Amino acid sequence: MNILVTGGAGFIGSHTVVELFEAGYSPIVVDDLSNSNASVFDGIRNILGKDIPFYQVDCNDFDKVKEIIEKEKIDGIIHFAAFKAVGESVLKPVKYYKNNLGSLLNMLELMDNTLAKKLVFSSSCTVYGQPDVIPVTEGTPLKKAESPYGNTKSICEDILTDTVTASKDLQIISLRYFNPIGAHQSAEIGELPNGVPSNLVPFVTQTAIGKREKLVVFGDDYNTPDGTNVRDFIHVVDLAKAHVAALNLLFKQTDKFYDVFNLGTGKGNSVLEVIQTFEKVNNIKLKYEIGPRRNGDVEKIYGNVDKAEQILGWKAEKTLSESLKNAWAWELKLKEKNI
Ligand code: NAD
Ligand code: WQD
Repeated sequence: MNILVTGGAGFIGSHTVVELFEAGYSPIVVDDLSNSNASVFDGIRNILGKDIPFYQVDCNDFDKVKEIIEKEKIDGIIHFAAFKAVGESVLKPVKYYKNNLGSLLNMLELMDNTLAKKLVFSSSCTVYGQPDVIPVTEGTPLKKAESPYGNTKSICEDILTDTVTASKDLQIISLRYFNPIGAHQSAEIGELPNGVPSNLVPFVTQTAIGKREKLVVFGDDYNTPDGTNVRDFIHVVDLAKAHVAALNLLFKQTDKFYDVFNLGTGKGNSVLEVIQTFEKVNNIKLKYEIGPRRNGDVEKIYGNVDKAEQILGWKAEKTLSESLKNAWAWELKLKEKNI
């Protein structure tokens, strides 16, 4: 089965390309490299011993993507391509609405005009906002998003529900990721944040390697066991494997289909726990201090992931320690390569 992976040069996409190939699918990447680098394909080749077809194309370009879908005889699509920086989305909402909504609408029109009828969409736990009850299930009511970025994910989910309802033959799954972290165990691929990272784990590894002076913990006066925020940190390779499970389910469907799954570990860890685990597993002292709260941060969230286990037959297997070990090995590799 030939799978078009939009955004396949990015953090989650590149790990998914590896897992797809290892599961027997043939991934074909479309990425405009707006937030990634073609050097990721060297890492993928080192892991798989094979080159993956790659087209540097904007997936808002209907004609070019149609040509690729037809030429490569695409059977299914995983749509990662989107902008994802929460802070930037507040400053440049039009950029985010245009790319994140526009590229999904384009993929849906392409599905109508080609034989590719299956799609997996990257959604996010951001659609839950600060939930009243945790862990959140897929049935937890969605809240108004905290940012234009978050709003694009909620709107995309609505677009998908309406489109499948109106369609005859589309089969679509939305996956709500919690906090993806870590890197491939080979240290050949990982996260390549642009500029100063806003996410916790890249900031931790960049501080430990000396690229940043110190980590600021955004608040320790929350209503949580140690006062810092609680999140559901999931290893990116576990997350990647869930996309294989989602495609397997889509390829079993005969009628039109839409469903949504939480992808997390089912467990919450605090920011301080992440720091302490990082220090312990890598035998490093991290320079950090407690600072003020960051605007828009939810206090605590983690997912109930029973539905993914029951229906997709998927469950996260890797621990927080493994994620933080792999993230550190990747940071060391970047240093070796002078990146
Ligand atoms: P990423 O930025 O590393 O990867 C996205 C890739 O898409 C990049 O390689 C970028 O160049 C490409 N891209 C963007 N717009 C494009 C376009 N119009 N045409 C072609 N390529 C385009 O991000 P990621 O962390 O791998 O996230 C992948 C998806 O998962 C995104 O949709 C993101 O919103 C979603 N998500 C990410 C997280 C997270 O914390 N990383 C959490 C929840 C959901
Ligand atoms: C995690 C925790 C921070 C940096 C974001 C998006 C969300 C989803 C996942 C895409 C928080 C704390 C962080 C630092 C810190 N992405 N922190 N110091 O905010 O949970 O979620 O990524 O869909 O939509 O909002 O992730 O990694 O930014 O923060 O103390 O320098 O680490 O306050 O509690 P977040 P994060």
